[in-house]
Order: sequence, then structure tokens, then C-alpha cells
Amino acid sequence: MPETVTVRVQRQDQRGGRPYTQEFRLPYKPRMNVISVLQDIACEPRTASGEDTTPVAWDCACLEEVCGACSMVINGKVRQACTALVDNLLKEQPVIDLRPMTKFPVIRDLVVDRSRMFEALKQVKAWIPVDTYGDVGEGPMIAPEQADSRYPKSRCMTCGCCLEVCPQVNEHSDFIGPQAIAQAVLFNEHPTGAMTAATRLEALMGPGGISDCGNSQNCVKACPKEVPLTEAIAIAGRATTWHAIKRWFTK
Ligand code: FES
Repeated sequence: MPETVTVRVQRQDQRGGRPYTQEFRLPYKPRMNVISVLQDIACEPRTASGEDTTPVAWDCACLEEVCGACSMVINGKVRQACTALVDNLLKEQPVIDLRPMTKFPVIRDLVVDRSRMFEALKQVKAWIPVDTYGDVGEGPMIAPEQADSRYPKSRCMTCGCCLEVCPQVNEHSDFIGPQAIAQAVLFNEHPTGAMTAATRLEALMGPGGISDCGNSQNCVKACPKEVPLTEAIAIAGRATTWHAIKRWFTK
């Protein structure tokens, strides 16, 4: 194992600021991950050429690949910093390369603003509506087959990996992205959520909706939680087509 680890970080001091690169060299420790590397840099923020600098900013919360907050581009691949192990990264290339995701505005260094994803969830109403906080008894029974279909979609952590690799998500498009489409399907498949399915389908048929998907299928390969995104997009495509036909006949 090496005595030191070299890390190259793309930094940016503020929103809209000019990105620049700094290199750091740290003593190697067994079982390091990218978060522990960033913590070591924060303890002694000095570049590899001996220049004092500010600590690198990054985001994290759960440290177990559940919240998605630590997502960044590591060695050219979007993934979670908390589960990116240094030993594995060094097998990919000798200098570990850290960059912020490119499809979201950079707030500082490796911290990005993922609000567009949460706005997309609001757009498709990705929740079960309740009209009381009182006790309404047990919810409806969910058949095992339905639970099997819903569970993989419920693993989404809104990390942003699918948007990062999607060519349809760019500065010229309002595409809500695969994650919001899959969440609309997840809630339409719920017996209570199905009662408001039409509203979600209308949202998917609106601007930036499902018709903006270019079917590149990059999303499903990049998803760290193996959410069946392309399957969900296909389900949403069929459902919106039926909804449009029904709407046409009932108008
Ligand atoms: S800190 Fe939550 S996914 Fe990495």
C-alpha cells in the first residue's frame, strides 16, 4: 500500500465562481473512504505544494449510502463519497479525482444545490395525500406482487446520479429527470395514491415531463440503489398514453 494518497479536488469558492483545482497529499490509512480523506484535509488544509488553503466543503449526512447528500464525481464517475473506498479508487487511477456534480449549481467546492430534484417531486406530487392527522385506521392492504413492484422504486435517495448522466438534463431543458418519473409511478401504484394518479399523470404530460426522455438508458446504469428507472419510465409512458386517450373521449 502507498505511504501517501494524492487527491485532486475541483474547487469553487461561491455560486457562479470560477472553478480551480488543488492537489492534496495525505498519509495513507487503511480503510479510508472519500469522506475520511476530506476530513483529513479539513484538519490540515494545505496543498501538496505546501500552500495553506481553506478546507474543502462537502456534504454528507447518513454515511451509509442512504441520504445521497455526498454524491459527487469521483474518478470521473458519479457516486457516493461515503461508500467510495480509497483502496478501490487507487486501483482505478493513481491520483483520486474529486469534482462536484455538473447538472446542479455548485454552492461551494463539492457541495451542489439539488433543489431541482425536490421541485420535480413537488411537480409530480410524489406523496400520498392525507386530509386529516386523526386516526383513520389501517391503510389498505397491499398485495405482495404490488409490494415487490413498489419496493425497488422506494429505494431512491434523490442523490442525483441519474440526472448527472442523463443527456436530456441540461441547461436548455426543463426535463424533470428519471427519478421524479419513477417516484410518480411509485405513488400511483399505492392503493391510496392511485386515487390521485390522474394528477401525477397530468404533471408527467406537462412541460419537462416524460416526453422529454430521450431513452438513453444511462440513468438505470448509474443508479447506486438499482432503482428500475427505465421500467418505471415505460410504465409512466403507457399510463400517460392511456390517460390522454381517456381524456380525449371523456372531454
Ligand atoms: S452520506 Fe448519505 S449517502 Fe453518503
